[in-house]
Amino acid sequence: MCGIIGYVGPRQALPLVLDGLRRMEYRGYDSAGVAIQSEEATLGVARKAGVLANLEALIDTGEVALPGSTGIGHTRWATHGGPTDRNAHPHRDSHGKIAVIHNGIIENFAPLRREIEDAGIELTSDTDTEVVAHLLAAEYNSGQAAGDLPGSMAAVCRRLLGAFTLVAVHADVPDLLVAARRNSPLVIGVNSGEGEMFVASDVAAFIAHTREAVELGQDQLVVITPQGYEVSSFSGGEPDYREFHVDWDTDAAEKGGFEYFMDKEIAEQPDALANTLRGHFDGTGIVLDEQRLGEDELRTVDKVFVVSCGSSYHAGLVAKYAIEHWTRLPVEVELASEFRYRDPVLDRDTLVIAISQSGETADTLEAVRHARRQRARVLAVCNTNGSQIPRESDAVLYTHAGPEIGVASTKAFLAQVGAIYLVGLALAQARGTKYLDEVERDYRTLSEMPAAVAETLTMMDPVRALGREIADSKAVLFLGRHVGYPVALEGALKLKELAYMHAEGFAAGELKHGPIALIEEGLPVVVVTPSPKSQPVLHSKLLSNIREIQARGARTIVIAEEGDDTVAPFADWLIELPRVPALMQPLVATVPLQVLAAEIARARGYDIDKPRNLAKSVTVE
Ligand code: M6R
Repeated sequence: MCGIIGYVGPRQALPLVLDGLRRMEYRGYDSAGVAIQSEEATLGVARKAGVLANLEALIDTGEVALPGSTGIGHTRWATHGGPTDRNAHPHRDSHGKIAVIHNGIIENFAPLRREIEDAGIELTSDTDTEVVAHLLAAEYNSGQAAGDLPGSMAAVCRRLLGAFTLVAVHADVPDLLVAARRNSPLVIGVNSGEGEMFVASDVAAFIAHTREAVELGQDQLVVITPQGYEVSSFSGGEPDYREFHVDWDTDAAEKGGFEYFMDKEIAEQPDALANTLRGHFDGTGIVLDEQRLGEDELRTVDKVFVVSCGSSYHAGLVAKYAIEHWTRLPVEVELASEFRYRDPVLDRDTLVIAISQSGETADTLEAVRHARRQRARVLAVCNTNGSQIPRESDAVLYTHAGPEIGVASTKAFLAQVGAIYLVGLALAQARGTKYLDEVERDYRTLSEMPAAVAETLTMMDPVRALGREIADSKAVLFLGRHVGYPVALEGALKLKELAYMHAEGFAAGELKHGPIALIEEGLPVVVVTPSPKSQPVLHSKLLSNIREIQARGARTIVIAEEGDDTVAPFADWLIELPRVPALMQPLVATVPLQVLAAEIARARGYDIDKPRNLAKSVTVE
């Protein structure tokens, strides 16, 4: 959703705030804005609809003076109010003394707005955020905590419902920012050596300046000054925070010579997978990162749910095949947004695996909470240290994919599949469905997959050429069987979100039950083909499906194992993959589909890092 940053320290705030926004633009690009506190006790504010470059162009005109060493900035994904200048953050109180930025949704904003209007104040935007600026001003000017900005913020937060990260600056309170969070992310960046501090939605915003960070628990308020930070709970209770070191550096958050972050992230997939798998077998079995679950709690699991959204959901669908096969446990994979509304049957022997790159997806977080209320155990597979979903889970396995900036998930998806396979092996060992030597053998096989992904990447030139050739198509269908089916779904999602093209993924066996009616002359159909050696029955059935669609005029794009001669006669385009074991195929077969979608989108002239209407993390339901 939105990206927010705040800075206090000895340097000019504006370039640091703009740089932080540039690194977080993936979180939203409907508008951007900054507020800088000047030494003359005024706030300079600049806001502009559209991408960050529009704001920078406005600042370059010199119309607004923005000197000062305390500042805040915001990049927006619109929820309340359209993506216009007047709805761009920061929002101010009527005297222009307080500026506020916000990520999330304030659910009770309507009655609060009425209360403000009844007090005779005219609101100047359609946002839920502006009410906070006015409430904060009222508290600071004449509330119980008058003259105390942190106390006033705490009082306001206690009145808010919903999800919010807020950062506020007051023109008359020098060298100080106050921030608060509930259900939306906020991390502190500590650069004590330089006497400077940051707050941001994501460590990427300040990684160029410090790798020392602090994650904040729920309902926490933090005051930052050049001297340090102070955390308290705004709803009572103890301060809740944890210091951590960020294990990647600024290079990881740069494009490194690639045209787009997504291109770089596709290329980084062998490393993302290798880093995720490395060190998770210690001779006695699979080791998770954080385990607050006992061995016997894993052993008594009798049912598994996987909950997630988007590509993370597809990773869960892939994992179902492996976990069921390895553990003989029933596995249900559920869209997180549906999970808690259908009253799933959960108890203390249910393991819920929550998969999330960001660790902050609202639907997945709520599914985790629902599961825990029903006493189920929750294991998180997550790429973001310090995020909320791992905080609220009983065990965590981190995907060490590094920062993923492109909105479309690529390396995070592959790393998720790798990580959840580790979970499957851990469960199989705990339940005794695999002996230690079998777990070790499967772990070794999994550990060979980064090399197979690297080899796949060297085979992508024909896919790029194909992407340019079919870029004008109206639609593309994707078919697969077994683990190839979720791969087909993932391929279709990539194409929809990047190229804005109609794309659907189907289980190939379902074709004759309806979707085959969509086939018309020239329609490109991508078919993810199983190995003829390890899955001969499925392979021959899929071959029949290919013949059926080709007979009806489709142009077939066949993704098949190297040396599979049987498919060649039915392939208008043949994309070859290295030979890998059947359950590992998604790790290589997804790669050409990512490259294809990126290439089609590029040929159609779209920004593949920032697809329209999307944001990287979805922190509202
Ligand atoms: O951060 P999460 O993994 O929880 O995000 C889930 C989805 O929003 C995400 O995978 C989304 O579908 C991507 N844009 C897909 O490329």
